[in-house]
Amino acid sequence: MIASVFKYATITLAALAGLYAVLLGLLTTSKFQAHVVYLHKIQMTWFKDLDVPETFGFLRNQVTPFEIRNSDGVILYAWHILPIELYRKHESSLVEEPVGFVQDITSRVGFKLLRDDPDARLILHMHGAAGTVGSGYRVPNYWALAAGQPGKIHVLTFDYRGFGRSSGAPTENGIILDALKIVDWAINVAGVPPSRILVFGQSMGTAVSLAISEHLASQSPPIVFAGTILVAPFVDVATLVSTYRVAGTVPILSPLAHFPAAFNYLQRFIRDKWSSKDRIAQYVQANEANGERYRLTLIHAEDDYDIPWHHTPRVFWYAVNASMPSGISYENLEEKKFESRKDLGAAGTVMEWRTENGVIREEILRTGLHDVIMGYPVITMAVMRIFQEADSSFTC
Ligand SMILES: *[C@@H]1O[C@H](CO)[C@@H](O)[C@H](O)[C@H]1NC(C)=O
Repeated sequence: MIASVFKYATITLAALAGLYAVLLGLLTTSKFQAHVVYLHKIQMTWFKDLDVPETFGFLRNQVTPFEIRNSDGVILYAWHILPIELYRKHESSLVEEPVGFVQDITSRVGFKLLRDDPDARLILHMHGAAGTVGSGYRVPNYWALAAGQPGKIHVLTFDYRGFGRSSGAPTENGIILDALKIVDWAINVAGVPPSRILVFGQSMGTAVSLAISEHLASQSPPIVFAGTILVAPFVDVATLVSTYRVAGTVPILSPLAHFPAAFNYLQRFIRDKWSSKDRIAQYVQANEANGERYRLTLIHAEDDYDIPWHHTPRVFWYAVNASMPSGISYENLEEKKFESRKDLGAAGTVMEWRTENGVIREEILRTGLHDVIMGYPVITMAVMRIFQEADSSFTC
């Protein structure tokens, strides 16, 4: 009896170990890896039509669904979202337009309201892994982004290649190319200068935001946006997988983190590294060297169980370290934080680092999880703070 129980237990364990090995093997293939990293086939809006944004809670024609074609032929599906007060002012002409997918966005009232208003602001939205422009907490996120100046703040959100209705398959370089195309559209088609553009990213979108911010700031002449907001950023993919737990409970690679040799070996197979720590440092360095004004806000909730909040102090440190010619150690920065950060009680803590050119803020919330936080008033405040710092005449 006991012997047979033991035998079955052994067989089960062996089978589990075998499955784990197969999983690890699969993870070394780039296609399977892409599905695990980007989760792009998990749309979550399967039973809704993105071309009918009204079913996501928007007013008739408040959202214009359209497409932007990238230089390599990839089609990017996008939404242009009007803020509520602007919509109210133009309600009758907006309601009269035909609904649904729009071939030529430049013919639409909403587009003209963006292009022709020298005071309009535009937020380029970089969403996280999985889903589409319409899934989960992204819709309340769009409300929060525009809430501070609902007559002025437009949002442009899109699906990266391989996500939702966009064509192609996701890779790091491809997604960066997509985000750069969105920037190009904003500046050259919608006519909004970088000083009136803010880049917002959440989760995987933070890595995309940093990649394009760094790329453009390092150009000559540099292109620097009014600011960049990062919600739930991470150091890089290797560090992320060593801490990641599916649904907050099932560790995939973290058991391996106990075996550094095996873990380092497997790391070599990571195709898309998304090194936000290096990119944020290069972004800050480039702006400090060029004397460009820059504003970075990092926000993370302590109860985020998808990406542990302690990624944010690391990313913040890479940014602050890069703002000083001789750098600062992590421990020294933590000491300074201890002295000068604001403690807001149940609302969390805020640390602001100012240089002659830049502001780097770290906001750690007590609660907000991974996605719910995106609809919180801290998001509205972060947007308004950046737009007002960039242009003090931007008030309600
Ligand atoms: C911190 O900054 C110093 C000085 O620029 C640099 O040499 C060092 O590599 C930086 N450290 C990290 C971890 O980026």
